[in-house]
Amino acid sequence: MNVAKAQQVAAGAEAGRNGLGPDVLFGCTDEMLRIRRTVERVAAIRVPVLLEGESGSGKEILANYLHQVSPWNEQPLVKVNCAAIPGSLLESELFGYEKGSFTGAYNSRAGKFEQANGGSMVLDEIADIDSGLQAKLLQVLQDGCFSRLGDLEERRCDVRIMCITNRDIQAEIQRGSFREDLYYRINVVNIQMPPLRRRLEDLPILVDYFLRNYGERFDRKVQPLSSAVMERFRQHHWPGNIRELENYLKRYVILESPDSILSELEERRSGPTSAGGFQLPPVTDFSLKKYSKMASQKAEHYLILEALKQTRWNRKRAAELLGISYRALLYKIKEAGLPQKKRA
Ligand SMILES: Nc1ncnc2c1ncn2[C@@H]1O[C@H](COP(=O)(O)OP(=O)(O)OP(=O)(O)O)[C@@H](O)[C@H]1O
Ligand SMILES: [Mg+2]
Repeated sequence: MNVAKAQQVAAGAEAGRNGLGPDVLFGCTDEMLRIRRTVERVAAIRVPVLLEGESGSGKEILANYLHQVSPWNEQPLVKVNCAAIPGSLLESELFGYEKGSFTGAYNSRAGKFEQANGGSMVLDEIADIDSGLQAKLLQVLQDGCFSRLGDLEERRCDVRIMCITNRDIQAEIQRGSFREDLYYRINVVNIQMPPLRRRLEDLPILVDYFLRNYGERFDRKVQPLSSAVMERFRQHHWPGNIRELENYLKRYVILESPDSILSELEERRSGPTSAGGFQLPPVTDFSLKKYSKMASQKAEHYLILEALKQTRWNRKRAAELLGISYRALLYKIKEAGLPQKKRA
């Protein structure tokens, strides 16, 4: 790495630590340095930005960063996950509503656009919004105007809109499920987050950062990764990108076991067809509520058992790994009738 690049790497990490916002490691690949330049150029201009890229590649963390480095970083940053909210609800969530505009609207409420006024708005999973909402969004992007549901008054908002997707929007346009005119409006500046497999030169910086970060957070003295693990990392395909790397390293810090990383990577290479044979429960009743409860319980038991195996039945460590308290784990083990100790 040359000096200029090394300085840029350091500056990228520094920007996160000095209170500007979440850490975003730009690393040293040309693609990431280009993104960093784009961010710098666009930071102070309130134009829409579209962030595309695979899952776990850092789209959301970059959107946060873009807000933090903008001159309106004291103003709100409002996030909406468009896939998580059904169409009609999403409309009232985004634009607000007047009292009596639909059954259950007992009071008037401001929407996310009003809440975000003067700041930034992140529309995550934008490819999931339906056509009616796409038209309304187009209007906001064209002239900054919208109205609450059940209200004739036009309101104005001044917001930077950042749209995020991990779907291929061009393909959605071809399929007729995403408006082309909306695409041009949201895509004034486009940032394509590269997958980790295209940023392998950044592995040492990322590894070092996460080990330090989790070492401090979990109060553990962390040994550097062995060259065998680093070599396996370089060969890995990283379908889950930086999130996947972060999870391996978090487990490494907790378990202090490089072998577990190697065996997990090996398992992934051999490509299990289902999660260790975990299957959905048989259908005995069509109640959606009952079935999802059964399925989620089964998934929970499966994960607990995997965590116990991983930690050789060290329940304290298993609880840390699962992110629950030790007491909660003991309760769950008992409730599920899972073995308390490793069976001989
Ligand atoms: N450049 C980066 N520097 C530091 N950490 C990163 C970076 N990119 C991603 N991460 C880490 O990876 C995690 C996943 O990133 P993020 O949530 O931004 O992914 P995403 O692209 O929005 O994924 P998804 O499409 O699944 O929502 C973050 O919590 C963060 O810890
Ligand atoms: Mg995300």
